[in-house]
Amino acid sequence: MLFPSRISAFARLNRLLSGKQYRDARFFILLDENTYNHCLPLLVSHVGALAEAEFFELPVGEESKSIEVATQLWGALMDSGADRNSVILNLGGGCVSDVGGFVAAAFKRGIRYINIPTTLIGMVDAAIGGKTAVNLGGAKNQVGFFHAPEAVCICPEFLASLPESEIVSGLFEMVKTALLSDVRQYETLLTSMERLHTQGIWQDGLGDAIKHCVDFKSAVTLSDPHEAGVRKILNLGHTFGHGIESFLLERQSPVPHGVAVGMGMVCALYLSVKKLGFSQERYLRYCRTLTHLVDVKRFTLKETEGILSYMRQDKKNREGLILCVLLQDIGVPVIDVDVNENEIRDALLQIGKG
Ligand SMILES: NC(=O)c1ccc[n+]([C@@H]2O[C@H](COP(=O)([O-])OP(=O)(O)OC[C@H]3O[C@@H](n4cnc5c(N)ncnc54)[C@H](O)[C@@H]3O)[C@@H](O)[C@H]2O)c1
Ligand SMILES: [Zn+2]
Repeated sequence: MLFPSRISAFARLNRLLSGKQYRDARFFILLDENTYNHCLPLLVSHVGALAEAEFFELPVGEESKSIEVATQLWGALMDSGADRNSVILNLGGGCVSDVGGFVAAAFKRGIRYINIPTTLIGMVDAAIGGKTAVNLGGAKNQVGFFHAPEAVCICPEFLASLPESEIVSGLFEMVKTALLSDVRQYETLLTSMERLHTQGIWQDGLGDAIKHCVDFKSAVTLSDPHEAGVRKILNLGHTFGHGIESFLLERQSPVPHGVAVGMGMVCALYLSVKKLGFSQERYLRYCRTLTHLVDVKRFTLKETEGILSYMRQDKKNREGLILCVLLQDIGVPVIDVDVNENEIRDALLQIGKG
């Protein structure tokens, strides 16, 4: 993990890429239009080792996470003479790192890659842990590999150009981590999010909060790289969130991933109150924060059916049961709680209520 310390993360990346394990390696930077404009200049001006790198531009957003885009990238790598010693650098948010990691995992049976996340979600979540994937038939992350990056280079400087809606999206993934790990982090984060709502300020204390999320996710994924057990806790809010995200994408009214997860966590916390005795007061405060920061629309009963049909495809389900991560308390997650379809409809109808 290359995190800013006494020297910047860029300087540490430059040192790594100039080292002997990368001697004679060719570097290929994957990016999208936004990271080409806002992030590439900062990267190449600080990391001299990338002076000769080639770059490939992907479509912006979820459109890039497709088998067709991956196939184009494999072709482009072949045409450029990439070999097993080549290295992919994913300069972007979770979409770039998910498809870039996927391409790296399969090209020549696996080449090295490095994530340089440029969104808040990328920094606190998507770039860490080695899960790579593309979407299939409108459903999220259906085809993928576990293939860990060689390094993750976290430079919060990139966040300066990120639109506020994407910052909000990242803050909800951070809330997820705080709910799983630490009540003090959670309270501080919710207070900062309320300050973002009332005063438009979000930067205060963010560096420490990012570091907490990075450390937590790294520790969990290192202890369970293939999601056999404890790593499943990271799916808090995601069984619902992915269903909502896929459904809204199909309806051509997409929301950022973290916002869908933010809505999904309403459902997870609601069921946690009902099934595991989670604090009702905490649940209500969470719902208020979400509605302050996000324009949450309520779903109709018919729409919940559409979401449910995506939720049935979730990879984490077993023998027809929909399995969710719920919370007994902050820092006390319970995995594999089976939830029936009426409970799911009821939980989805709580989003945006009150
Ligand atoms: N693999 C994992 O473990 C994991 C974890 C969490 C999320 N994800 C995936 O990550 C994706 C969401 O990630 P995301 O929100 O970062 O998406 P993204 O990559 O689409 O980035 C969001 C938007 O921000 C733009 N952008 C990126 N950096 C910028 C910058 N510095 N300045 C200005 N604009 C910038 C992008 O072009 C895009 O429009 C989802 O597909 C989700 O499934 C994966
Ligand atoms: Zn997520």
